[in-house]
Amino acid sequence: MHFQWYPGHMTKAKRQMQEDIKLIDLVIELVDSRIPLSSRNPDIDELGKNKARLILLNKADLADEKQNEAWSEYFKAKGFYVVKIDARRNNGMKTIQNVILEACKEKIERDRKRGIKNRPVRAMVVGIPNVGKSTFINTFAGKACAKTGNKPGVTKGKQWIRLNKNVELLDTPGILWPKFEDQLVGLRLALIGSIKDEILNIDELSIELIKILKEHYSGMLQERYEVDESQDAVKILEAVAIRRNCIQKGGEPDYSKAAALIIDEFRSGRIGKITLEFPEA
Ligand code: G4P
Repeated sequence: MHFQWYPGHMTKAKRQMQEDIKLIDLVIELVDSRIPLSSRNPDIDELGKNKARLILLNKADLADEKQNEAWSEYFKAKGFYVVKIDARRNNGMKTIQNVILEACKEKIERDRKRGIKNRPVRAMVVGIPNVGKSTFINTFAGKACAKTGNKPGVTKGKQWIRLNKNVELLDTPGILWPKFEDQLVGLRLALIGSIKDEILNIDELSIELIKILKEHYSGMLQERYEVDESQDAVKILEAVAIRRNCIQKGGEPDYSKAAALIIDEFRSGRIGKITLEFPEA
């Protein structure tokens, strides 16, 4: 599989982020709970050094809760604050507010010692495309979405969303590009739908998914499609095609249709709560 991004676009976005990051105290980085490492761009660690760091394990509703917990511990051990969320829902947002203050307590204390009172913490949301940045900003800011900025003395052109007296959020998220020089990373990004489907071989992708499910989530394919999981992956795909009536005109199984169906049902969580990448012990 070969993927092409637009270097000009990437360079511009990175430069923008370098500028924006100077203005903030805290980086709120969204990752996809199903592939928490593959959905990161490690450049953010360099860009965000010296800033407080919060990782949101987003789309936690689609991932395996046991692995969500394991990933949460993994990132905490590396010094990040971590919260698991479903960015479409409100619950969890209060926790995030509290964690932001906790993550920025040193800055708040520094301000206090200098006699600066009530200066809100400034945060910025970053992540790869489709990870849920806009959804999160909408839910988190909610109705309290009073925009500040463009006032004299305020950084020109930047729009800040004032969440409350303690926190302001930059209204435009920073886009990071996924890194998929590694084949496996590319495969995982493709499975969650972060790479355009037109440039992918969906049949191959579904076979890889079936293999992962057989290995780590034994019983799920059987449960959903009533297929015998002891067969090899291609046979399973064929069995799904027959079960779900994906049949070509001549009566042959339509592999591509069955492949698309499996991928779609995986992405929407209908096969089950599935994590595709596991923290190393
Ligand atoms: P972005 O700004 O980072 O590019 O991502 P965006 O918020 O546009 O979200 C991308 C998609 O992911 C959206 O779906 C959104 O509804 C979905 N999404 C975001 N957060 C979560 C989450 O925590 N859980 C789940 N299950 N989905 C989430 P979409 O494809 O644009 O529309 P639809 O599929 O909702 O119809």
